Amino acid sequence: MGRLNGKVALITGAAGGQGAVEAEFFAREGAKVVVADLKQDEVNAVVERIEQAGGEALGLELNVAEEAAWEAGMDSIRQRFGGLDVLVNNAGILSLPGISKIELAEWDQVISVNQTGVLLGLKFGTAIMREGGRGGSIINLSSTYAHLGSGGAVAYQASKAAVFIMTKTAAVEFAADGIRVNSVAPGIIETPMTREVLAAAGPSHPDITRTPLQRAGQPHEVANAVLFLASDEASYITGEELMVDGGRTIA
Ligand SMILES: NC(=O)c1ccc[n+]([C@@H]2O[C@H](COP(=O)([O-])OP(=O)(O)OC[C@H]3O[C@@H](n4cnc5c(N)ncnc54)[C@H](O)[C@@H]3O)[C@@H](O)[C@H]2O)c1
Repeated sequence: MGRLNGKVALITGAAGGQGAVEAEFFAREGAKVVVADLKQDEVNAVVERIEQAGGEALGLELNVAEEAAWEAGMDSIRQRFGGLDVLVNNAGILSLPGISKIELAEWDQVISVNQTGVLLGLKFGTAIMREGGRGGSIINLSSTYAHLGSGGAVAYQASKAAVFIMTKTAAVEFAADGIRVNSVAPGIIETPMTREVLAAAGPSHPDITRTPLQRAGQPHEVANAVLFLASDEASYITGEELMVDGGRTIA
């Protein structure tokens, strides 16, 4: 018996990185998975891998920053699967400039994807879950950068700090509907998002040297935490932020 048997799960930003691993883990655990991203070719490849492994998946082109895309996406999910039980607000973009260097256009772009995208996910995800009347679980991807001033990446950090608190706001607002809302805060994880910075700095990257476990994390290490929170094993956990950071925030 899979840990997500009978559940329908939507993962945003699931064309690659952590989201793609989560999609495959969820399918392996019995969920019907909606693989959403901007990148259709990569989405199709993830769907194909899931189907080849005997799972069920739907690919969706969904820009998380656009309300109309959420409306259309929810309609597709209603038509194909009849409802939604799990949502992972995983899509995100990195931005490194600090306050003195950032252009307003970059700030707006990061806030629209990382913060407004999560708001829209919470709004539309809870609406479809409430229609089903069987509760649900939402996991938002925050970051250790929501908690550390030392990153210096002002837009990214501000957006992730917003995700941290929106998670708690939503957990309270939707508790009566049986919808749990939690966040996972990864430390530095080896994905396409960090490929360039890790290649440039190697093991001397400050996010590695300041991490007690002295290494970057792997996508599956985040996916396992997301899977736990998605499952009924986490039935009494809501409004929590789970750090998956090799100890980065406690040292
Ligand atoms: N990699 C890390 O070190 C790290 C650390 C902390 C938090 N995170 C967070 O984890 C999540 C996943 O990151 P990742 O490392 O897998 O990154 P990634 O860049 O590998 O994957 C992000 C995915 O989001 C998609 N995406 C970007 N904008 C989108 C939009 N507007 N609509 C839909 N999809 C969009 C991209 O196409 C990509 O497939 C992100 O929210 C990220 O901020 C990552």
